[in-house]
Amino acid sequence: MKGIGLELRPLRVEDERSFKRAVKEFADQTSPWQFAFHFDPSGDFSGYVRKLNAWSRGSELPEGSVPNSYYVGVVNAAIIGRVSIRHELNEFLSRIGGHIGYGVIPSERRRGYATEMLRQALPICATLGIRTALVTCDADNIESRRVIEKCGGRFEGLTDYPDLEVQKRRYWISTEQSVATAPAQDGPNQTPSRTLGNATPSSGGAHVAPLSGTAGR
Ligand SMILES: CC(C)(COP(=O)(O)OP(=O)(O)OC[C@H]1O[C@@H](n2cnc3c(N)ncnc32)[C@H](O)[C@@H]1OP(=O)(O)O)[C@@H](O)C(=O)NCCC(=O)NCCS
Repeated sequence: MKGIGLELRPLRVEDERSFKRAVKEFADQTSPWQFAFHFDPSGDFSGYVRKLNAWSRGSELPEGSVPNSYYVGVVNAAIIGRVSIRHELNEFLSRIGGHIGYGVIPSERRRGYATEMLRQALPICATLGIRTALVTCDADNIESRRVIEKCGGRFEGLTDYPDLEVQKRRYWISTEQSVATAPAQDGPNQTPSRTLGNATPSSGGAHVAPLSGTAGR
């Protein structure tokens, strides 16, 4: 999964320093948007990686979360962003959260990395049986809107949800053409049908309950 020098891959134990740096940069500059879900910087990092693997298989999921996969975007051996893919949509995700959430650390933005991460996420969705991925963004998030549209997002419309301060723009992106480029799943957390991330009510991830905001999708 390479493109403009970016590799999208699962988090590894050896990523600890780079990952924590990215999490901190987000917390400092993009709060309340979250880079990681259910992550305790002072906790056992290998345990966190193991937890991500479990969630990707649909095990040990936090209350209300659906199976999801968490990938990091790596450039020059450093983590610059992340993508979470929800394997299925619950009521909240089908209206607001969508299948895919992503973020790039502030110091690495406007270099095409989010666009590349989303592009690389599409064949992964295809391997999960998601033929058309729902991707959403805040109505005033011009950067994310550009990213989605550059990846072929077809605008469906705007939507509201209780407690949302800003309307969401809903897009659908076909994953079909991307199947041929789908990456090999080579790790314990790489089972295509059960890989990935996580989501929490506070993060806007793969959860059931509505959040107070859109942070962390
Ligand atoms: C949204 C986000 C992921 C974009 O990451 P990125 O790596 O900078 O995105 P890219 O470089 O791939 O593309 C950004 C596009 O927005 C455009 N853009 C950026 N700022 C802009 C502005 N103020 N006005 C208009 N366009 C703007 C860029 O020019 C680029 O489009 P282009 O390639 O046509 O020039 C990043 O800003 C982020 O992490 N934000 C916080 C989390 C978030 O909002 N996630 C999305 C949830 S839906």
